[in-house]
Amino acid sequence: MTDTPEPDTYSALDAPEFAPAQFVRWFREVAPYVHAFRGKTFVVAFGGELVQAGALNALVQDISLLSSLGIRLLLIHGSEPQVNEQLRLKGYSQQLTRGLNIVDAAMLECAKEAAGEIRLDIEAAFSQGLPNTPMSHSHVRVVSGNFVTARPLGVIGGVDYRHAGVARKLDQDALKFALSHDSIVLMSPLGFSPTGEAFTLDMADLATAAAIALRAEKLIFLTGSSGVVEESGGIDTELARADADALLAGGALDEETAFYLGFASKAVKRGVARAHLLPYDLDGSVLLEVFTHDGVGTMVVEDTLDDLRPATMDDVGAIIRLIEPLEADGTLVPRARGEIERDVEKYTVLEHDSVIYGCAALYVHPDEKMAEMACLIVHPDWQGEGEGEILLRHIEGRARAAGVKRLFVLTTRTSHWFIKRGFTPGGISDLPRSKQATYNPSRNSLIFIKRL
Ligand SMILES: CC(C)(COP(=O)(O)OP(=O)(O)OC[C@H]1O[C@@H](n2cnc3c(N)ncnc32)[C@H](O)[C@@H]1OP(=O)(O)O)[C@@H](O)C(=O)NCCC(=O)NCCS
Repeated sequence: MTDTPEPDTYSALDAPEFAPAQFVRWFREVAPYVHAFRGKTFVVAFGGELVQAGALNALVQDISLLSSLGIRLLLIHGSEPQVNEQLRLKGYSQQLTRGLNIVDAAMLECAKEAAGEIRLDIEAAFSQGLPNTPMSHSHVRVVSGNFVTARPLGVIGGVDYRHAGVARKLDQDALKFALSHDSIVLMSPLGFSPTGEAFTLDMADLATAAAIALRAEKLIFLTGSSGVVEESGGIDTELARADADALLAGGALDEETAFYLGFASKAVKRGVARAHLLPYDLDGSVLLEVFTHDGVGTMVVEDTLDDLRPATMDDVGAIIRLIEPLEADGTLVPRARGEIERDVEKYTVLEHDSVIYGCAALYVHPDEKMAEMACLIVHPDWQGEGEGEILLRHIEGRARAAGVKRLFVLTTRTSHWFIKRGFTPGGISDLPRSKQATYNPSRNSLIFIKRL
């Protein structure tokens, strides 16, 4: 038992639905992410809308938790609605909009005031430490400064953008020093030129530049968009950069999603490991995205799918060579060549430099809206690089496209791999009827099912 909670305080642990076993399992499931992200840099960017919506405190609590887990954090806030509010209060008619703006002297003054105010609010929020709140015992140091050298946007197409600027250089040494000394760095969307002038910056552009300069593990945008929505209505939780670019070129995305997806794609192309679009109005969205396998928003990754393609008859020999050693040691059920030839269009292969180094097959049972993923293999020389995960994602995508709601696997030795990727144990009665009929009890394979 911990020594802090007082009896009159509400705690999730006291809730009637609290299940100790579930809590322990969840806590353990989070452990690999904690280990993986310690010492890594996350850039978290959010618009002034988040502050306006009253979501700042919750975000600050979650960011403090990430910081205490050893993640290095750079926060960048926007201030558009606050600047517009200042302009309105002062009787000016001009308003800032997303993207390019001509920034006159009045707007610049309002931007400085708004930035000052938001920065103080954020610093105050990080200074909380009331008992029985998530900030209890937290000692977060927030550092701000003149990290960004800016230059004016200048005259584009005959239009002078005046005090609107772009980041020219980031003081990487100072940023890395602060981050490595357990400080959270807070940046406002303003930069300064060597002549001492201030320029307004685009928050998303600045965050992208910072994430690239620091080679961040994650660039996270908290936005008014929930992420990229698939045809089925669900959120596309992982998007290869090439697919993100194709969506952007297609022009069908809403303005906000397209705006942030463009920056996410740019960041990933320039070396940021992953870029995320998350909804700021979902409480705890950063924690859900970072610590659960599928997350809640859209994550953009560099395109590693180049090697994936549907199998053809010419691949049957290579597939058999992949399967043979696993049949011999009992990991996979033996399959006759004729069976693979018959089902070849169900297979996807991974090919690099004309070498087939992985495969997986999808057997759809349309009546039950279920499908089996079978024959998931990555050649031992290529294992441990995420290729198995790529195959799984691809098969999940194919299954969804076929209207499948639940994907199942039968396995004897790989159960933990599937559990880690969102599968849960099932029984024979959970299988489609035709599969129940062919289930081989002597093999005693374990059944795992994942809702798509
Ligand atoms: C399962 C398999 C496809 C994973 O391929 P992969 O490209 O290595 O997968 P990833 O790189 O995405 O994942 C690697 C992680 O899975 C773990 N893993 C590999 N095999 C595992 C197993 N049998 N059980 C639990 N975890 C396993 C690795 O240790 C590694 O963990 P880490 O990220 O913590 O280091 C591959 O190991 C394989 O071909 N195995 C033999 C065939 C098989 O069992 N297929 C499933 C049939 S149902």
